[in-house]
Amino acid sequence: MALKLNAVSFPTGKVSAFTNGSRPSRSHNRVVMASTLHSPSSLDVKTVKKPFTPPREVHVQVTHSMPPEKREIFKSLDGWAEKNILVLLKDVEKSWQPSDFLPDPASEGFEEQVKELRERSKEIPDDYFIVLVGDMITEEALPTYQTMLNTLDGVRDETGASPTSWAVWTRAWTAEENRHGDLLNKYLFLSGRVDMKQIEKTIQYLMGSGMDPRTENNPYLGFIYTSFQERATFISHGNTARLAKEFGDLKLAQICGTIAADEKRHETAYTKIVEKLFEIDPDGTMVALADMMRKKISMPAHLMYDGRDDNLFEHFSAVAQRLGVYTAKDYADILEFLVERWKVEKLTGLSSEGRKAQDYVCGLAPRFRKLEERAQARAKQASSSVPFSWVFGKEIML
Ligand SMILES: [Fe+2]
Ligand SMILES: [Fe+2]
Repeated sequence: MALKLNAVSFPTGKVSAFTNGSRPSRSHNRVVMASTLHSPSSLDVKTVKKPFTPPREVHVQVTHSMPPEKREIFKSLDGWAEKNILVLLKDVEKSWQPSDFLPDPASEGFEEQVKELRERSKEIPDDYFIVLVGDMITEEALPTYQTMLNTLDGVRDETGASPTSWAVWTRAWTAEENRHGDLLNKYLFLSGRVDMKQIEKTIQYLMGSGMDPRTENNPYLGFIYTSFQERATFISHGNTARLAKEFGDLKLAQICGTIAADEKRHETAYTKIVEKLFEIDPDGTMVALADMMRKKISMPAHLMYDGRDDNLFEHFSAVAQRLGVYTAKDYADILEFLVERWKVEKLTGLSSEGRKAQDYVCGLAPRFRKLEERAQARAKQASSSVPFSWVFGKEIML
């Protein structure tokens, strides 16, 4: 759901040679790296596409941009994280599970419950299902997000069962998140409204492709990214809940609303971490926030592909935008929310680099809103429809 704001970067210069963790200057050029780069041009694009590499551009991959001495900050925050972050996790025994919201396959009434679910879902239009499927696929690529968290220096789970608070959080967060894709997947399967095989293929492609969040193994960037993302998913699931209610499917509304509540709790955790970083290292955190916003927050499923549509993510995003589930306005709203949450405007005592970053970030939301208005106007003029394999190739308006 990167929308029009998350524009593709075009080459602005040469690719610099840094592959072993050395850091190029902050003003490094962004370069398109297509998987077709090394392929003979005579080949058809379809045959060139490699199934387990990103189907489209990824950026120059900067690694380990946090100075090694700053890892100590995260080590020293382990106790703080235990008291302030781990407490935001829910006890498994008190947690909801997907089966709480689905027909019980061990009960006598199973078939009747499935029938009811299918009756309710009949009232829901196809374009809503596009958005719900896209959200579900995004959730299902969870291994990619756990991997991303474990790329972050100073907080990664070094062993797979590390006792640090950071690692405990990442594993438990993953375990909580795992229920989201699971629940939506099962609901969609039972609804009979969508082409499960195409959806499953999309999930497999997406996990194979990974993601390109440009967080550079840097936990400052990583936690800013996750703060943004958790709020984005909170908004998105909240809106699918609202729409499901409008369509009269209260059970589906409850499903989406329950997932949204988890996302909100996760947003609280990640924004708390960044708040703490602002307290300990205001300059470093300010510069990291500006860096992340300059690069634009790419959505986790931005590399999605179903084997057919090369612009699947853009098409899915356009439908989400049209239905008001996740829009360019939301992007600007999230930024504004985070600026307020972290009291960015009120930060004092910054270096000149920090002040520049502060000015940049504080002036960004109004600029986004202007861009959004223009994008909206363009979108209205160029309204079209495309077939979505997820709903058996039916044409859906963008
Ligand atoms: Fe989620
Ligand atoms: Fe989440």
